[in-house]
Amino acid sequence: MLKLIGDKKKNVAVFISGTGSNFLNLIKHSFKRNSKYKIELVVSSSPRAKGLNHAKKYKIKKKIINYNNLKSSEKKILFELKKNKIKLICLAGFMKILSKNFIKRYNGKIINIHPSLLPKYKGLDTHQRAINNKEKFSGCTVHYVNSKLDSGKIILQKKVKIFKYDSGYKLSKRILKQEHILYPKSLKKVLINL
Ligand code: GRF
Repeated sequence: MLKLIGDKKKNVAVFISGTGSNFLNLIKHSFKRNSKYKIELVVSSSPRAKGLNHAKKYKIKKKIINYNNLKSSEKKILFELKKNKIKLICLAGFMKILSKNFIKRYNGKIINIHPSLLPKYKGLDTHQRAINNKEKFSGCTVHYVNSKLDSGKIILQKKVKIFKYDSGYKLSKRILKQEHILYPKSLKKVLINL
């Protein structure tokens, strides 16, 4: 049968370190009729990451990297990315910092989801810090990755209200729900230009 021009799905890799709820959500979205991507590979910085179970269930290739040595770890990852013709890398709870060199190699092709309204609350413990500072809103941001932590160009953001007696836990759950809407939307936006 003739293949329609432009109907080819782009290969995406997701990098995780833990639960992988964003990973699972992106897998599910990739099965939708209009999806423009396929998750071809998952890279995990831990063999114990719960998210690896999703790779097993959905038969996605996985690469576990022990990160004892940054240079050789990234060399192994780059090899897998090339082998699997990866066009876009999605960081989803990936707890390692990528080297400048790595980012340069995939410049404009690495995106991340962060649970705050960047540029506010870069780094860890974002929910509690936002509550402690008596913010009225927090939220989530999908952004391009550059060599500075949580600082690349913003792709999309979603605000989430902070309630009077909120806890970091409750807020994180409400934000995560929004992350699951925002990340696939952002992918759609980014993939048009790749
Ligand atoms: C999410 O809150 C994401 O914004 C942050 O790490 C968390 C990962 O959650 N970068 P999960 O592993 O996708 O469930």
